[in-house]
Amino acid sequence: METQLRALQQEALDALEQTTDSASLELFRVSYLGRKGGRLTAILRQLGSAAPEDRPRLGQLANEIKADIERLFDERLQLFGSGTDSSRPQPVDLSLPGRYLPFGSLHPITQVMGEICAIFEGLGFAVAEGPDVESDYYNFEALNIPQHHPARDMHDTFYVTDSILLRTHTSPMQARIMEKQDPPLRYISPGKVYRCDSDITHTPMFHQVEGFLVDRDVSFADLKGVLTSFSQRMFQRDLALRFRPSFFPFTEPSAEVDIACVICNGKGCRVCKQTGWLEILGSGLIDPEVLTQVGYDPDIYSGFAFGMGVERIAMLKYGIDDIRLYYENDLRFLSQF
Ligand code: PHE
Repeated sequence: METQLRALQQEALDALEQTTDSASLELFRVSYLGRKGGRLTAILRQLGSAAPEDRPRLGQLANEIKADIERLFDERLQLFGSGTDSSRPQPVDLSLPGRYLPFGSLHPITQVMGEICAIFEGLGFAVAEGPDVESDYYNFEALNIPQHHPARDMHDTFYVTDSILLRTHTSPMQARIMEKQDPPLRYISPGKVYRCDSDITHTPMFHQVEGFLVDRDVSFADLKGVLTSFSQRMFQRDLALRFRPSFFPFTEPSAEVDIACVICNGKGCRVCKQTGWLEILGSGLIDPEVLTQVGYDPDIYSGFAFGMGVERIAMLKYGIDDIRLYYENDLRFLSQF
């Protein structure tokens, strides 16, 4: 019986070594350790019929061998995973909710800028983008703002070198486009602009959409018509518009356009600085000096131009009362759009 036990031990350990996955391990368990028909179990049952003086020794040996096999069996079990076959796909619970993947969305400024462009494209304007890093020439000189002109002070310019700067407005695109093409022209130019300024209505970087049109017989009435039509489409209602005489070196006459403050409905609040109006754009008829500089004859051609602040328009559209919210990247704010 002892030889039988030792032979079985060797055979069982060899068989265990051969197992490669939890399925073959389960086969091993049934044929060696199984309660019914397991070979080790069968030998243990025969212990009762051994000679009484041999029983304690044989019993101890059998227990040692059993423990040995079970220890190795447990090791393999750990290695292959539990009794269920891990190589077989687990059943899928179709009633579980799907995994949530949050959606991103366009920044409100990007959305509004796209809307502004779409409205002007509908009015026949083409879109052209220009560089953020601009030369002093296009940002100032070509727009009738020479060196030491007091209008430069209004711009709080970030200079890169003496003659290179971050554009303070999108108006340089007027000169860049007119220089290369002949009238008639209708363009809008969206983009980022930079000014060293920061409070609840100003951020050092903000967005403008420039627009201009050059042709024969363009008048101020054309400008008013285009801007009124724009604001009606943008705000989808008859919003009060106010043209206020103003000054820009590159337009003559010039006007700033205000829109009734929708935050306070014209009553006066901190956003409109208690005036009931919010300035959304600067505009005017293109100064003959600018036309001459790009080689147009101001006796033949005239045009209008405007530049609007996208943040302001988005504030009005969505009732946002602090411009800095756009740039804090707070998802609770951004995910509302
Ligand atoms: N560039 C001007 C500004 O940033 C706006 C403007 C554009 C005014 C075109 C007149 C004509 O304030």
